[in-house]
Order: sequence, then structure tokens, then C-alpha cells
Amino acid sequence: QTLRMSVSQLEKGGYPHFMLKEIFEQTDTIFDCIRGRVVANGTAIKLSGVNDHPDRFINAGRILIVACGTSWHAGLIGARLIENFARIPTRVEYASEFRYANPVIRPDDVVIAISQSGETADTLAAIRLAKEAGAFVYGICNAVGSSIARETDTGTYIHVGPEIGVASTKAFTGQVTVLTMLALAIGQLKGTISSEQIAEVGRSILRLPDLIAETLELNPQIEKLSAIYTYVHNFLYLGRGYNYPNALEGALKLKEISYIHAEGYPAAEMKHGPIALIDKEMPTVVIAPDDELHEKVISNIQQVKARGGSVIAIVTKGDTTIPAMADHVLEIPRVPEALSPIIAAIPLQLLAYHIAIMKGCNVDMPRNLAKSVTVE
Ligand code: G6P
Repeated sequence: QTLRMSVSQLEKGGYPHFMLKEIFEQTDTIFDCIRGRVVANGTAIKLSGVNDHPDRFINAGRILIVACGTSWHAGLIGARLIENFARIPTRVEYASEFRYANPVIRPDDVVIAISQSGETADTLAAIRLAKEAGAFVYGICNAVGSSIARETDTGTYIHVGPEIGVASTKAFTGQVTVLTMLALAIGQLKGTISSEQIAEVGRSILRLPDLIAETLELNPQIEKLSAIYTYVHNFLYLGRGYNYPNALEGALKLKEISYIHAEGYPAAEMKHGPIALIDKEMPTVVIAPDDELHEKVISNIQQVKARGGSVIAIVTKGDTTIPAMADHVLEIPRVPEALSPIIAAIPLQLLAYHIAIMKGCNVDMPRNLAKSVTVE
């Protein structure tokens, strides 16, 4: 198999590390990801994988998402988007668990496999099972012509270009963007969302490259902030709704490259365990955009503060409540709720990057990790 990529794509382009280059590239990679797919000024979605197989989606009893690692986190966000916009019951499984769980797979199921590399052994095994059971298998891959891309019935490439850094960044935002377009496309097909709803999210998808550029301006602030937390041993990440999986992903990023123990939790679950860990040694990152659950997250922040914990809050620009109680505030632009995980992912990536750099870690090739896990 030949790899199609230009030399410039494989160089660091003036950045000290591939990871930082790939974080900053997201303005362009999201542009490539949405090109030709969000059409008519954001009022319609065109995904050939959906448009060419309308019956499979209209008649789908369920959607099952299988993936590993960061791609599984994207899948968790995708499931919420699909249930919200397309009203199809959706489950997300680790491919490694799914393949050995004697899973119930029906011919009217749509199985979505998400994989940056398209070569992850467990994900490949899961789609083979799904195909044997007669399900329709949809791939969301980055590597063009990869095994998963070839073995799925159809799908959507994320088109973010080669990702070299072992910790996934631009592939994650590409996957979530494709899943957002997919949820809207199925909703559009099934008539479960209004054209106003499509237009509201669609128009903002077209603005994502600019919104990401605006968010990347947080970089110097995050670099400074990271110096304070270099010697911490544990971190807690909290989020709700679409941003709960983002809390898991933020924690995973930090673990992978800085070797600091971090846990992601749905914010309200904090009181069922992790709250016992909170003291002045354990910072909490709270993803708290101004959405329906804003008030609830505020009370979670108060609970952390009451126990002496420090809080780094990711908030919507213009929020005046959380800045009054958090130790550090990272402001992101206002977007429709469904797009907030894409924007909120950026400061989480930068925070992990800078903390790891300050600890002297090799961010592009963290110990013990592989870019692609092609064996069990
Ligand atoms: C490895 C990588 C992760 C990735 C996971 C799934 O663990 O280090 O970054 O999320 O595999 O890989 P895939 O290529 O299937 O998305």
C-alpha cells in the first residue's frame, strides 16, 4: 500500500513538536473536513455515505458505535448527537469488549466504526462480526485506503491529513465534526430536526475554522498556567452533556503525554466518589460552557472550592459567574451547544501539551504508547 502525503505534511513546519503543529493545524483540517459537506450556506448536509443509502438509515433499529481510545471518546459524543438529532437509539462500545461480548447484532443495525489509523485490530475484528451478522457498517477513518476504510460498506473520511503525534488531537476534532454532520444528515433524512435547527448548527459549522483560530489565541495563557501545575500528581476533569466525553478525553491527553494521573467524570458523579480525593493538591478542570447545564456545573465548582481544590474552568466568553469563583478561566467563543465539544477540546489539548513540555516529556512519542495498535 502506498502512502500519499507530501513532504511538507511530514515536517514540523516551524513548530517544535508534531503535536503542537497538529493542534494549530486544526483551523485548516476542520476546513478540509467540512468542505463540500455543509452546503447551501449551512442549511443542508451532504454526506454521500448517508445520501447513497437512505433506506439503511431510515430503517435503522439502532446504531452501534465501536472504537478504541480517543476514537471511542469521539464516539460517545457522536452517540449523544445522533440520539439528539436523529432519534435513533445509539450505543457506544469499546471494540475490544464488543468483539468478545457475544453481542446482539441485527441486520437492521447500523454499526459505525471510528478509527484514525483504520488499522486498529480490535475495531477491525468488531466490524467483521457486524458484517457477518448482516449489519450495515459505516467507517469514520482518517487514513485513506486503510483496512477499516476498505472493509466497511461506506463511510466518511475525516480528511485531516497525516497525524504523527501519538496523542490524537486533530483526528479527534475531525471525528467529532464528522459525527456532528452525520447526526444532522440522518436527522435531515428522517425529518427528526427542523430546517431551522440544521441551519443554526450548519452555519456555525462553517465558522468552525475561524472559531478554532480564535480559541487557539488561548495558547500563551495556557502555557503560563501550565507552569503552576507541573508538579501535581493527580488531576480531575469534569464536564456534562456533550462535554462529559470531552472530560474523559482531556484526562486521557494529560495521562498519555505528561504521565500525570488524571480522571474524567461526568460532573454530577463527582459526589459519588472522586469528591473524596479533592484537596489543595488536586486541581480540577471543569468544562463549563454556557449551556442548559451551566447552573448545575456551577454548583459542582462550588463543591470543589469548598474543599480547598483549585479550579481551571473553560467557560463561554462573557460568563461572569464562574470567573468569580474559579482560580483560572479559559474563555472560548460562544457556539451552539452541539459544537461546544469541538471548541472546548482545543484548550484541553494545549493544557496537556504545555504541562508535558514543562515536565520535559517527549510529547510526540510518549513512553509505552503506539500510534496504531494493530495487535491485540
Ligand atoms: C492508540 C493511539 C490513540 C488512538 C487509539 C485508537 O491507542 O495511541 O491515539 O486513539 O489507538 O486508534 P485509531 O487509529 O483506531 O483511532
